[in-house]
Amino acid sequence: MTPSSDSLVNTNLPLRVLQVGAGGMGRTWLRTLLSHDRVELVGLADLDVARAKAALDETGAPDVPTARTLEELIDHVAADVVLDVTVPEAHHTVTMQALRRGLPVLGEKPLAASLAEALELVAASQAYGRLFMVSQSRRYDANLVAFRRLLRRLGRIGILTTQFFKAPRFGGFRDAMAHPLVLDMAIHSFDSARYLLGVDPVAVYCDEHNPAWSWYAGDAASTAIFEMADGSRYVYTGSWCSPGLETSWNAAWRASGEYGSAVWDGDSPPTLEVAEGADAGEETDDAEETVHPGIAGSLREFVHAVRTGSTPMGEAADNVLSLAMVHAAIESSRSRQRVVVADVLERAHAEALERATGEVRDVLASWTSLTPPG
Ligand SMILES: NC(=O)c1ccc[n+]([C@@H]2O[C@H](COP(=O)([O-])OP(=O)(O)OC[C@H]3O[C@@H](n4cnc5c(N)ncnc54)[C@H](O)[C@@H]3O)[C@@H](O)[C@H]2O)c1
Repeated sequence: MTPSSDSLVNTNLPLRVLQVGAGGMGRTWLRTLLSHDRVELVGLADLDVARAKAALDETGAPDVPTARTLEELIDHVAADVVLDVTVPEAHHTVTMQALRRGLPVLGEKPLAASLAEALELVAASQAYGRLFMVSQSRRYDANLVAFRRLLRRLGRIGILTTQFFKAPRFGGFRDAMAHPLVLDMAIHSFDSARYLLGVDPVAVYCDEHNPAWSWYAGDAASTAIFEMADGSRYVYTGSWCSPGLETSWNAAWRASGEYGSAVWDGDSPPTLEVAEGADAGEETDDAEETVHPGIAGSLREFVHAVRTGSTPMGEAADNVLSLAMVHAAIESSRSRQRVVVADVLERAHAEALERATGEVRDVLASWTSLTPPG
């Protein structure tokens, strides 16, 4: 998206943030906002106002105004941007309200609860000329960035694999979701795979199932094989109910390339082994890749983008392709067929056109490519 010049917030004052959602992740965000010297928390909305007040008391900001919804808060508090940390089902409503009011949005993953809603939000960001960025916090992990540098020394990549095995008992929305692993968690790995390989997905075979001892209502285990645009394969295997020898929250990774292989356990620095006689070149230290970890990295990139008009990594028009991997995988596991990602995007686009109205619909109708313009 090319932001209009009136959308840039380029004063020297701290960026005024309205946060929506004060649950588990919302409280983590509050601490991050309050420790950033260039932003100011000016309001917190949550359907459960008592929860919002308790979160503010806990984080040492008891005087920040609260309300049930963004709509209730937005007219009473002067703000520059909105931070959406609500449940996935609310992302569309909250982001649409903010963009329509001319406020750029930083939203938690996933971009939206469905791919059609996601495309509608990408179009809304373009229609209203306001940035919508999704916080894919894994992209700011220094070891992931280092792993990508190692991959660049392996020549062509044949296979990239992810193993994710954890056994958390969350309670709440994840326990009731139809696809808790693929929809809520695998998005991190799928997005990281696009970042690591630097190419987009073409098609996927996926199998999901729910282990007999699972405490989740939906399928909590999955294996997906993605065919990527350069012919490489990205293979993801994971389970949410896998006690013992658990992997890192960042998963465990292996890349097999032309000149050698690289591995990363998700926590320690990654390592590389180059085949004898192969010229894998020297490791480079990209100056532009200064890393601030996790959501602090997302926040920093968002603030910079809102002030300068630069395009952040998680811009919705790009991030929608990571979400498309999720929905293509789910469709494949339902149909037990190979699913082409462009077909999934095309169907979602048709659905988005039916849902959307006004200038958002006009933008959707103007797209000539299945990949929305950035
Ligand atoms: N990046 C990460 O590592 C990471 C980790 C955990 C969660 N998340 C994401 O963060 C988001 C929130 O997750 P969570 O674990 O905090 O969930 P949660 O259920 O603990 O909290 C969500 C909060 O949103 C509020 N809410 C829902 N709809 C609302 C609306 N329309 N207006 C105002 N408030 C509303 C709820 O009352 C609740 O307090 C999800 O999208 C989740 O996927 C990301």
